[in-house]
Amino acid sequence: MLRFTAPPSRSRRQTKAQLRSSLIPLLLLATIGLTLSCAPQQRNAEDRATIKIGFFGDLSGPTFNFGQSAMNGVLMAADEINQAGGINGRKIDIVIEDDKGSPEAAAQVAGKLISNDKVVALIGAGASGNSLAAAPKAQSAQIPLIAPSSTNPAVTQAGDYIFRACFIDAFQGEVMAKFAAGTLKAKKAAIMLDFNSPYSRGLTEYFELSFAKLDGQIVIKQSYSQGDADYRGQLSAIKAAEPEVVYIPGYYGDVGLIAKQARQLGLTVPLLGADGWDAPELWELGGDSLNGSYISNHYSADDPSETIQKFARAYRQRYSNLTPDAHAALAYDALRFLAEAIQKAGTTEGPKLRDALAETKNFMGVTGIISMDRDRNAVKPAVILELQDRKYIYQETIQPETSPAVQSH
Ligand code: PHE
Repeated sequence: MLRFTAPPSRSRRQTKAQLRSSLIPLLLLATIGLTLSCAPQQRNAEDRATIKIGFFGDLSGPTFNFGQSAMNGVLMAADEINQAGGINGRKIDIVIEDDKGSPEAAAQVAGKLISNDKVVALIGAGASGNSLAAAPKAQSAQIPLIAPSSTNPAVTQAGDYIFRACFIDAFQGEVMAKFAAGTLKAKKAAIMLDFNSPYSRGLTEYFELSFAKLDGQIVIKQSYSQGDADYRGQLSAIKAAEPEVVYIPGYYGDVGLIAKQARQLGLTVPLLGADGWDAPELWELGGDSLNGSYISNHYSADDPSETIQKFARAYRQRYSNLTPDAHAALAYDALRFLAEAIQKAGTTEGPKLRDALAETKNFMGVTGIISMDRDRNAVKPAVILELQDRKYIYQETIQPETSPAVQSH
């Protein structure tokens, strides 16, 4: 029988304030950049020439790594495009907003970018819940929005102006279920989910479905809320149920602590996760407790392919030797295929740009070849990575089954 607990009461962690303090210089830089780019005398001259694109993401909240990496990727792509002459001779101007990881703020900043800044398209957000909140603003204004990394299927169902640069969680959940049952030969899994996150709930559902099809059994399901500090009650219950693997489809800020507490309690089986684990901060929180875990993800920075290595080299050079995570790579790809669509459309008018985006086919991205299916989702392979000593070690690539929607293009 499945046991399913309500999330325990919320207790915020002290560490967040400390984590955020490291952000202040970055935010100041972003603010200075914004102020400069909005200086009135410059603006008048530029308005005709530049193409304004809005970027929003979590730059200072519980998933700040997501927004920072995506912003890095977008800014790098914008500079490269501008240095190569821009789009049909016009330069790109990125207007940046911080949604602080909150759905309400995501909707608000998306509205502000559309109404005040008059951007022609939006790139954002990171976490699916924030993209879900922002998407209706873009849809009703007929301004295309590309969610670079939001994987919950409902995001693009908000309407025909909403696109994404990544695969969806129906695929991602299945990929991990297959890995657990096939490669790890697990028959009994536990799930620990972030109860308020559409991303986490979706992945739980898809993992369960696929694992059951492979004759696997979910022996226990427990939940938490983003920002909790103590996960030991749920982890003790999981340990008692004796699973062979524990699936934790959450975000890195919680997962790092969950891994640590799991190991302290003697829960030593492999922990399995998804793209939400991919952030440098994960290692700061979880350290060695993460060793022997596996995640599904969008790409591997260690992939020897020339496209990936060229991108990773340029990114490391630009951002003090930081390795580009999936968010950085997806946001980089998103701006590049948006630029291609603007070029092809020959205009920044919403409806025409929407049509050009919908026709994106065989775009050579860093995260794979991007083609939009009829639901405006990118159909792409996933990779499995093993976590070991602060590294994500590439294991295998799993191809999506070609859906009829893709063939119809
Ligand atoms: N896929 C996650 C979501 O939809 C966001 C994410 C993408 C996180 C890529 C990390 C890397 O919420």
